[in-house]
Amino acid sequence: RPGTRHRIATIGGDGIGPEVIQAGVKVLHTLAHTSAGTLDLDFVDFDWGSDLYKRTGRFLPQDGLDTLRQFDAIFFGSVGAPDVPDHISLWGLRLAICQPLQQYANVRPTRLIPGISSPLRSVTAPSHLDWVIIRENSEGEYAGHGGRSHSGHDHEVATEVSVFTRTAVRRIMRHAFATARSRPRKTLTVVTKSNAQRYGLVMWDDVALEVSRDFPDVHMDRMLVDAMTVRMTMHPQSIDTVVATNLHADILSDLAAALAGSIGIAPTANLDPTRANPSMFEPIHGSAFDITGKGTANPVGAFWSAAMMLEWLGEADSSARLMRAIERICHQAIFTPDLGGKCTTDDVTEAVCNELRRK
Ligand code: NAI
Ligand code: MG
Repeated sequence: RPGTRHRIATIGGDGIGPEVIQAGVKVLHTLAHTSAGTLDLDFVDFDWGSDLYKRTGRFLPQDGLDTLRQFDAIFFGSVGAPDVPDHISLWGLRLAICQPLQQYANVRPTRLIPGISSPLRSVTAPSHLDWVIIRENSEGEYAGHGGRSHSGHDHEVATEVSVFTRTAVRRIMRHAFATARSRPRKTLTVVTKSNAQRYGLVMWDDVALEVSRDFPDVHMDRMLVDAMTVRMTMHPQSIDTVVATNLHADILSDLAAALAGSIGIAPTANLDPTRANPSMFEPIHGSAFDITGKGTANPVGAFWSAAMMLEWLGEADSSARLMRAIERICHQAIFTPDLGGKCTTDDVTEAVCNELRRK
């Protein structure tokens, strides 16, 4: 069948972001060229990020969101520069896209790719670590509510208020239950800290219970976030799908990435499940100042994110083909230094392209 054309906005951003996004676009071009006409992708690149901010005072142009709304998906690198405070860059670009575009579900699959070893002794087969962490991506601890007064004085006050709305908790729970239902084990762990945080997270528990009634085939259990870190390291086999707040899942998913081998391979999707707005796909890592410009950034996190993007765009076959190519080069230990190898970003990219060109 002739493919539907998908229009993709690419935003490399800062540090190694542009390096891995360029690598990802190269792999996606090769995937399209070897798809016998079934995959049709069109890219437009935007040079948004900290350099633009330093020149103009804005990370993206005034009409940047309107521009993005014309695309089917966004492929994003990273934002953050050594000479810009992190809270300015994060809110200036990444959250400035996620929040208005209602990308309320942050989805982070973690699994052990054959060929990559986990730092956990008990994890020796891919089936031992196969998780999807669903992070509430629109409010909670990162709602942006709070302030500072009496700045610099001894009696200075700073508040950082967590915001939980029933609407947002319900929609993320529904997405999490539906994700758990789509997976073989149909198990969802609801993570909170509802012993110490008595209001927002107790409502979170209430809503989880209500939504669970619509998903009687999904087994739900509940964990406190501190105990969850122990379970992830001691009993990783017992976990399947996880849902947690913006802050908790941010932390748990970095731990998950490390337990699956390296932060350089982990992908994420910022989804608007209603599909009213384009969703955004990005590796979970940041700008990695220590390796910027060295040509050694691991591009696999960007490739895996690209595979998630294709799946979201309805291109399941192309997505699976890309994942198989990634798995084959990992199996051959074609690794950048973070995975103990000596390959460059270009070596890994070329190896994936070569796999795609083989029949
Ligand atoms: P980071 O992820 O940039 O780096 C942490 C460590 O992991 C570094 O040693 C780095 O070299 C390594 N690493 C990360 N990605 C890698 C890759 N693809 N290949 C090989 N090694 C890799 O986290 P860090 O240092 O905390 O943050 C640096 C900057 O990135 C900060 O400005 C931060 O705010 C920003 N950041 C942005 C994110 C985003 O845009 N979504 C996410 C995380 C951090
Ligand atoms: Mg993080």
